Amino acid sequence: MKLEISPSILSADFAHLADEIADVLRFGVERFHLDVMDGHFVPNLTIGPDVISAVRKCTDRVLETHLMIIDPLKFGPIFAEAGSDVVQFHIEVAPDPRPVMDAIRAKGAKAGLVVNPPTDIETVLPFIKEIDHLLVMSVNPGFSGQKFIPDAVEKVRRAREAAGPDLDIEVDGGINAETAVPCIEAGANVLVAGSFIYGAKDRGVPIAALRNAAVHSK
Ligand code: DX5
Ligand code: ZN
Repeated sequence: MKLEISPSILSADFAHLADEIADVLRFGVERFHLDVMDGHFVPNLTIGPDVISAVRKCTDRVLETHLMIIDPLKFGPIFAEAGSDVVQFHIEVAPDPRPVMDAIRAKGAKAGLVVNPPTDIETVLPFIKEIDHLLVMSVNPGFSGQKFIPDAVEKVRRAREAAGPDLDIEVDGGINAETAVPCIEAGANVLVAGSFIYGAKDRGVPIAALRNAAVHSK
């Protein structure tokens, strides 16, 4: 399965967002990760649908919108309409994710489910054949630049076993050239990276290092 890299624009310079997107596009990134926080589900506030629409004008790459909000049923379709290709919402606020999946798909986007570090992977396995995408959090959501929580690796492994080869399984939080290796070995095929990519002066270096992690994983 081909590895895909999804820079999180949360770590980019918001005053020059179009340039920050163009900069990493030069290195062939497949996706962009857009972190939406509501100040309730997580203790931070970030962007709304207008920013997704603005980013949509900058790239035809896959836009995945990670909703860290308490009401994905209300806002999921709004973020789909704003131009997201995949809208990702948390199982912790949608224990029956089907109505949210339906609402997102009705607006033409794919539906992704997200699981937090303290949440058992068992909670998402009943839906694994129905979802378009699984996002395994490897930090507690809210901020970029946190330390990778290794428990995510076993969760990825369990999810990959249950899902088979076709599902996009992504890890998010604390991903760098070292932490990417066990995630890829366990079956992750999409890597989010915020501070690792945007914290570098030359963004080609971390992006190449992430691709190299795939080469070095078993
Ligand atoms: C955390 C966000 C992540 C974050 C990743 O709440 O969901 O997407 O931006 O940033 P790094 O890669 O710096 O951990
Ligand atoms: Zn995220």
